[in-house]
Amino acid sequence: MKPESEITVKPAHNLRGTVQLPGDKSISHRYAMLSGIAEGASRLENYSTGADCASTLSCMRALGVKWSRMDGPGNVIQVEGRGLSLAAPSEPLDCGNSGSTMRMLSGIVAGQRFTSEMVGDESLSRRPMERVIKPLTAMGARIESQQGNPPLRIHGGSLKAIDYTMPVASAQVKSCVLLAGLFAEGETRVEESLRTRDHTEVALRAFGVHLDRKLAGSGSEVRVRGGQRLRGFDARIPGDLSSAAFFLCAAALFPGSQLTITHLLMNPTRARLLDILMQMGLHISVTQLDEIHGELVGSLQIEGADLKGTSIAAGDSAALIDEIPVLAAIAPFTAQGIEIRDAKELRVKESDRIAALAENLRRMGAAVEEREDGLKIPGGQTLHGAEIDSLGDHRIAMAFAVAALRAQGETLIHGAEAAAISYPAFFHTLEELAER
Ligand code: S3P
Repeated sequence: MKPESEITVKPAHNLRGTVQLPGDKSISHRYAMLSGIAEGASRLENYSTGADCASTLSCMRALGVKWSRMDGPGNVIQVEGRGLSLAAPSEPLDCGNSGSTMRMLSGIVAGQRFTSEMVGDESLSRRPMERVIKPLTAMGARIESQQGNPPLRIHGGSLKAIDYTMPVASAQVKSCVLLAGLFAEGETRVEESLRTRDHTEVALRAFGVHLDRKLAGSGSEVRVRGGQRLRGFDARIPGDLSSAAFFLCAAALFPGSQLTITHLLMNPTRARLLDILMQMGLHISVTQLDEIHGELVGSLQIEGADLKGTSIAAGDSAALIDEIPVLAAIAPFTAQGIEIRDAKELRVKESDRIAALAENLRRMGAAVEEREDGLKIPGGQTLHGAEIDSLGDHRIAMAFAVAALRAQGETLIHGAEAAAISYPAFFHTLEELAER
């Protein structure tokens, strides 16, 4: 269900219905990689439908992992693990648009006795890889890059454990070092001063790896010993919270909205959006909560309200990094507006998201102040429909489809097909939920 490249979104007056999201993108990447280096078979149910997670699967195939997509509903992937030792790829590992694939998988191929080349599309080729090259080099890998950008040529081999303090809040980098730590001699320790999503830590345990974790203030510390074997298992992947964010924020635009979301990922390192939206006035109740393979999963009932403004900074900016685009897109419709600080990382995502948000908000007639590390968007504004450019960035395309629901007149989204990177059915589901 790939979206068209241009999509028109008409104003709505409510969001109403029930939705279950495809599997979480972050967890799908990790399960695909870990099931490949595990012993025995794994069954991954509700695997992400996004192109990014398909990139991870195709890289795993190029590394000799056998997997198949099961016919029928449920997006099930069956993986035959080959243990820690992968096969030398005969072609470059194509990571497509996926920074998660390149950064996390680099930790695994660095521990292999062969050379891998990792390539990406135009957007990924502009993204910084120095952040993984540095720790992997310290562990003993030799990596060639284009001044810190892809393509990467990773000469793997025997690695030694390191003690690494993260210079930037990034779950991908933390994961890369921990995954390389599985292949290293000794105990690898990673320390982060701002807590980032912990799916790698949770997933490693689900695959039978022993690791020590400590939470320290606003950060955390993780230790993993090399040489541990992983065991395949049957997993069910919870719905993607970052994809649900678009519907949560769309519902938040209208006091009359009534939305139910089932089987949704509620991991505390990902769920900050729910607290923020509740502080802004949205009514959210958790009607069910379970733990599956160490991840919290729940069902939510959402009722619209008049939204207050908010300010996002420091640890919140790291915790909300993928949800800031859609929060910024609804900011003009809140009472006091939204200010975002300490979010410089947004400039090195699939696009420069700070610039993309400022530009497209202005096209819709919004006042917005762009800053190096964020945005200040006043509230109480009226926006008009406009032509939006996604810049090939999935979250920009979807964020402005949400803003378009409250604009006056129609909005045309160019580059709407980018939504398929994380959520191919997004526009279809949005249309089903929007009441006009
Ligand atoms: C991700 C981590 C974040 C996030 C990305 C997914 C992950 O990136 O933006 O969409 O799955 O670990 P950074 O590690 O670059 O912050």
